[in-house]
Amino acid sequence: MVESLRQSTPAEREQWIRDASYNLFNLRSEQVFIDLLTDSGTGAMSDRQWGAIMTGDESYAGASSYYHLKEAIRDITGFEYFLPTHQGRAAENVLFSVLVKEGDIIPGNAHFDTTKGHIEFRKATAVDCTVDIARNIEAEDPFKGNVDPEKLEQVLKQTPRERLGCIIMTVTNNTAGGQPVSMANLRAARELADKYGVLLIIDSARFAENAYFIKRREEGYADRSIRDIAREMFSYADGMTMSSKKDGIVNIGGFIGFRDKELFRRASTFNIMFEGFVTYGGMAGRDMNALAQGLYEGTGYEYLEARISQVARLGDRIHSAGIPMQRPVGGHAVFIDAGRFLPQIPAEEFPAQRLAVEIYLEGGIRGTEIGTLMADRDPVTRKNRYPELELVRLAVPRRVYTDNHMDYVAEAVKNVWERRQKITRGLAIKWEAPIMRHFTVELGLLS
Ligand SMILES: Cc1ncc(COP(=O)(O)O)c(C=O)c1O
Repeated sequence: MVESLRQSTPAEREQWIRDASYNLFNLRSEQVFIDLLTDSGTGAMSDRQWGAIMTGDESYAGASSYYHLKEAIRDITGFEYFLPTHQGRAAENVLFSVLVKEGDIIPGNAHFDTTKGHIEFRKATAVDCTVDIARNIEAEDPFKGNVDPEKLEQVLKQTPRERLGCIIMTVTNNTAGGQPVSMANLRAARELADKYGVLLIIDSARFAENAYFIKRREEGYADRSIRDIAREMFSYADGMTMSSKKDGIVNIGGFIGFRDKELFRRASTFNIMFEGFVTYGGMAGRDMNALAQGLYEGTGYEYLEARISQVARLGDRIHSAGIPMQRPVGGHAVFIDAGRFLPQIPAEEFPAQRLAVEIYLEGGIRGTEIGTLMADRDPVTRKNRYPELELVRLAVPRRVYTDNHMDYVAEAVKNVWERRQKITRGLAIKWEAPIMRHFTVELGLLS
């Protein structure tokens, strides 16, 4: 399947982004030339996936598509029990309905925004114990997504057992720049989970990309297959949440994997309430079929090599122009350091959002802010939280764009870099939602 793209003029883009209140989520897709807003649900399905769609079983209960997907999940992750959900955040909602209650502490490496949102919605606290080197943006460390075992143990030690909801390990660590987590680190997190008697859950959206990095970077894994590595990763967890829209290469879908039948049973009740019956939970049979196929394709070495090299190519081209960015390049996206790109703009004026807007104005390219806007307000004080990094994420959809498109993106970013001194002010909030504000915020350009 191919899709036509439409170029636009700078004047059109100026008008469109003003109409969108300087929020890139508010743009229409036809107002975007290269869409790097997210790699979530934006991949292209294969001939085999489309073929599988044709044989979807839409029975309400016990559909063959459900069993087909169950088999693929058991094969790839080792989890015996699973619940389908309509996407990753739904998996979080269902699982946290069982595991997280008011006052709980949920430590891990950096929690993704919907994960944090679901934790804070329950008046619990997500504690980010990512290794410090992740904040050293230029450091060429192979596993900057790791949790710091000392920080994690500190939290586990200080928190009464009944207030520890679970540990969440996000692979790859999206918030820290798509950086991978090593197998040794997952093993260390498991040991701590056992020592303190707490469950370990893997937020698995990009587990296959993580497995690729383990294969390429961690001693002892070069000759192991991606699926074998993935199975070992999951062997350290009690459960997993999955946004299938990433490494499952489908446009919609998610699931929860469980080792324990009792936990599965308790979560099933919430799945029925929020998602659907246990054998479809928010997914059409045809989509479960496409996901079963996608999980195999997404864990293929050649595919992962092509995908991750394409992201690296974009990153290397941007970096070679001297533009500050997260190194090494992450699995699914390039993260530009907007704080250093536009040091003249204070964090209160959302420099990363301003840079994302400029990249759109320059080339019709849509990225996303991962900075003060996304960090949101402290749920108690309602004050803005200021993360250490102000990033613009350019996430690359799977199997959609060519390297030529990536070169165009790199040139546009370089053009903005060359005129960066002329960008003197940021943006001000005109309206925001009480939680996860970045999706719907309305902004005005300061001058
Ligand atoms: C690490 C991680 N966890 C969870 C989610 C939420 O998944 P979904 O968008 O399918 O709800 C995402 C989505 O981007 C993610 O990157």
